[in-house]
Amino acid sequence: MPTIMPIYGTRPEAIKMAPIVKALQNSPDFECVVTVTGQHREMLDQVNEIFDIVPDHDLNIIQPRQTLNGILTRTVEGLDALFAENAPDAVVVQGDTTTSTAAAIAAFYRGIPVIHAEAGLRSFNLFSPFPEEANRKITSQITSLHLAPTSTSKENLLREALPEEDIVVTGNTVIDALLHTVAKQLPFTDPQLEEIAASGRKVLLVTTHRRENQGEAMRGVGRALARIAEAEPELVIVLPAHRNPVVREAVLPALEGKTNVVVTEPMAYGEFTRMLSVADVVLTDSGGVQEEAPSLGKPVLVMRENTERPEAVHAGTVKLIGTDEERIVAEVDALLNDPAAYAAMANAVNPYGDGRAAERTLAAIEQMFGLGHRIEDFTAAVAAR
Ligand code: UD1
Ligand code: UDP
Repeated sequence: MPTIMPIYGTRPEAIKMAPIVKALQNSPDFECVVTVTGQHREMLDQVNEIFDIVPDHDLNIIQPRQTLNGILTRTVEGLDALFAENAPDAVVVQGDTTTSTAAAIAAFYRGIPVIHAEAGLRSFNLFSPFPEEANRKITSQITSLHLAPTSTSKENLLREALPEEDIVVTGNTVIDALLHTVAKQLPFTDPQLEEIAASGRKVLLVTTHRRENQGEAMRGVGRALARIAEAEPELVIVLPAHRNPVVREAVLPALEGKTNVVVTEPMAYGEFTRMLSVADVVLTDSGGVQEEAPSLGKPVLVMRENTERPEAVHAGTVKLIGTDEERIVAEVDALLNDPAAYAAMANAVNPYGDGRAAERTLAAIEQMFGLGHRIEDFTAAVAAR
């Protein structure tokens, strides 16, 4: 029986890999050996817990204020030792983190086929997002099976002359995870959040962490939030703060003493997706949140200059607004106070998946090992409501 090793290290990889892990574990055709690098710690463990996944191997590489080269070298070293003892028949990596590219390189150098989930996203700017655009391009070059979430991402891969027969359009597994989790309507552990959900007050949900926004841009985000909080006393701003101390040092000082700003620790996935369904407006620089919020009909203002996820921008539920303080204040104001502007963006659309991405992934891996056949590719039309 072929052994497949999903390898992941950060919160978003864990969320998006969970449906694949479950599908592999439930399949009689494969042995699934889960390896985490521990690039994230608390934020990773939180996800494994909620999906009831116990890793078989944990490299525990995290260091405070870690560097990209540190993550890369500790991952390659740790995985190489693991592969030397017990090489899997293929690895699955997800997305564009440094864990995913380091794992792909470590496997490729050992002659182990790489399966890449969420393949083919491109911003076409090597430095934004940094280092993710480079990471995903490098991974594509050494991948045997590309699991593209959308037809746009497949086209990006074809433009790079990657073989069409190695590309499957699966949809993004984040929608599998979201549908599974939102259906449970998990309670908030923090009573303050339960109160906010019950209060009927408008909620602005904010997340920020991107490396290229750190420093002055992120301080501007903090100042913008402080101004919005003052201008809109009835609004509640909910900000689950990323664990990265660099992020907290930039954003949080401006928010001290603001009684309608609720700063929390990273929320467990069930609680975060419930807060997403409660929120009126989402302000974020996150990749995953850009995919989830449109599915719940929530307008998303993205604090970036570009995106590798154009589908929801085209559908009208996501708007790129950059990180300029004045622009953030103005765009949030428009969504909160102009019903026509709000209605134009608040449409539930599902360009990223129909909840069957893990099923298509499993079928594609079965075909790769001569054990079955792929199923029909995901098309956005299939998922349109
Ligand atoms: C990483 C990914 C990014 C992804 C993001 C998701 C890279 C280069 N970046 O960025 O693509 O969007 O994760 O959140 O792979 N920390 C903790 N505990 C945790 C997590 C982080 O203490 O559970 C702190 C540590 O001090 C760590 C720092 O945050 O050094 C930064 O973590 P790191 O993984 O390097 O960067 P992220 O910004 O999280
Ligand atoms: N998320 C979460 N708790 C939070 C904030 C976000 O579970 O407090 C989830 C969110 O639903 C999404 C993922 O984390 O699926 C996004 O992770 P992040 O923004 O850290 O990384 P990115 O997607 O930008 O790589």
